[in-house]
Amino acid sequence: MVLGIRTTEIADADAVARCVTAVARERRFLVTTEGFSAEETRAYIRGQKASGGVHWVALDGDDLVGWCNIARETFQVSRHMGRLGIGLMPRYRGRGWGRTLMASALEDAFRHGFERVELEVFASNGAAIALYRAMGFREEGRMRRACKIDGRYDDVLVFGLLVEEWTATPVRP
Ligand SMILES: CC(C)(COP(=O)(O)OP(=O)(O)OC[C@H]1O[C@@H](n2cnc3c(N)ncnc32)[C@H](O)[C@@H]1OP(=O)(O)O)[C@@H](O)C(=O)NCCC(=O)NCCS
Repeated sequence: MVLGIRTTEIADADAVARCVTAVARERRFLVTTEGFSAEETRAYIRGQKASGGVHWVALDGDDLVGWCNIARETFQVSRHMGRLGIGLMPRYRGRGWGRTLMASALEDAFRHGFERVELEVFASNGAAIALYRAMGFREEGRMRRACKIDGRYDDVLVFGLLVEEWTATPVRP
């Protein structure tokens, strides 16, 4: 298994949609439990490219097995910020690939003028939280019971990373 990572092309939209939808349907990690269609994903990737967002994918040969995107915020006071999302197909987790993929996306984002990257994560998602802390993110808040899946509540944690914190981190690629 050899990991390849690169920026996302519009032509990747079908495969990205399949990957996001598979992770969404695990019903444990993402705010969507249904995922997105190929058309929605194509429009999203196109919009991200146009607005200066960052979108990366992980590949095992020709198979797209993960993504990491940092979406440019749209309102005037928030345009210096990005919102991060990431996911890998189950058999590719826990091997350090999330770290590699995320580091490349963050480096790309800060190089392109982002000054802050933020994200939200379910409090039960230990692997993701460990990854975010390892990348230098700081926990900034907790939204109590902000997630409810199949009748079960979870808290949602807010994490943020500033450009100068990223510049100082030893995990930069
Ligand atoms: C979150 C995710 C992208 C992390 O990628 P990964 O490749 O599995 O993580 P890595 O192997 O790079 O490990 C990153 C860190 O997490 C730790 N970690 C990995 N799996 C873990 C687990 N199950 N529990 C606790 N920590 C874990 C690693 O030890 C490592 O920490 P370290 O650098 O301090 O040693 C991946 O697990 C995933 O796709 N999960 C499902 C989707 C998801 O949760 N997306 C994020 C939603 S907010």
